[in-house]
Amino acid sequence: MSGRRLLFIPGPVGVEEDVLLESAKPPINHRGREFHALLDETLGLLKRVLRTRNEVVLLTSSGTGAVEALAANFGPRRRVLVVNAGEFGGRLAEALRVHGAQVVEVASELGTLPSLEGVLEKIEAVKPEVVAFVYNDTSPGIRVSYARELCRAAKEVGALVLVDAVSAAGGDELDVDSWGVDGLATASQKCLAAPPGLSFVVLSEEALGRLVERPTTVYFDLRRYLDYLKRRETPFTPAVTLVYALRRALQRILEVGVDSWIRLHVERAAVLYSAFESLGLVPFVRREEHRSRTVLSFTLPGQRDLGEIRRSLSENYGIEAAGGLGALGDRIIRFGVMGPVKYSELVALVTAVGLELRRRGVEADVEAALSKLEKLKGLYEALRIR
Ligand SMILES: Cc1ncc(COP(=O)(O)O)c(C=O)c1O
Repeated sequence: MSGRRLLFIPGPVGVEEDVLLESAKPPINHRGREFHALLDETLGLLKRVLRTRNEVVLLTSSGTGAVEALAANFGPRRRVLVVNAGEFGGRLAEALRVHGAQVVEVASELGTLPSLEGVLEKIEAVKPEVVAFVYNDTSPGIRVSYARELCRAAKEVGALVLVDAVSAAGGDELDVDSWGVDGLATASQKCLAAPPGLSFVVLSEEALGRLVERPTTVYFDLRRYLDYLKRRETPFTPAVTLVYALRRALQRILEVGVDSWIRLHVERAAVLYSAFESLGLVPFVRREEHRSRTVLSFTLPGQRDLGEIRRSLSENYGIEAAGGLGALGDRIIRFGVMGPVKYSELVALVTAVGLELRRRGVEADVEAALSKLEKLKGLYEALRIR
């Protein structure tokens, strides 16, 4: 990513040169043979990366489009239980309500997850037809560590399971098929490290049989997409040049190996939490197993406005980080660490944050943080990510 700003925001992430160059190819006829082969190959690669045998639908939209597609095709007139642990959980509930679902939410204080017991009790009480949750809520930086158990409990009461995995798929453990996820939404610009503009819906066999009769959408009517998929097309004009880029990005992940790709995200996050703690930052999510592996959020004791630090990282170091969304605002600072971020870029991030904190009188131990980072060197070498 030389010569460019370092994107440590929660997406889009930095995209490799060869992936970008693919999107400079001339557009092709999306009703022609060449596109049929391109879509076929790309969806095949995507299934391998997402480790699913289920049907995968490609949409030309950002991740919200895929979430909305789930809401519009499975939500209308159904009783839905939403586990809400942050801004994106709230948006998921909102999308379902807009599309006519009767939504019951189980929410928790920001930075925490609703307890699994509490969620299970609610499932027993509500007997939902659909259970929906955001696997990794990017705003507080929290992951649903009990996702597998939650899916199982939902299936036991016969509910469909819908998951927003926009900031998790490819960067955290996720076994769509064996967990029993019926509808999964994700997008191109996060852990898949492709440019923004494409999103995906993964549909189980059961989901195919339980699409609502009248979806509350035209553009995201999944039946139309499934119908066109038979001839390896999409109902509406797809962003063909982005599909080229996506294909290359997926090939890159498969060259590293899917397990290794996920391991990269998981181990990198663990090391970074610890390195940032050496700098005086405190993870916003207290319970370690609930901390996101893709978007790391922190507070700074005694300081409620981290916006200044974020702005200085941008202006003085060319590093883009994010604040919180909604109520959190600049109480937290978030670093999105997804895709093939270079080791040297991690060094730049940790050093810049450390120096910035020191300037503000925080006793940031930059040397300790950098020596913690060194634990990642072996992994980076082994995976040949340079
Ligand atoms: C968990 C989650 N869901 C949905 C979205 C929405 O994705 P997009 O901005 O691509 O529409 C995001 C984006 O950050 C996200 O993190």
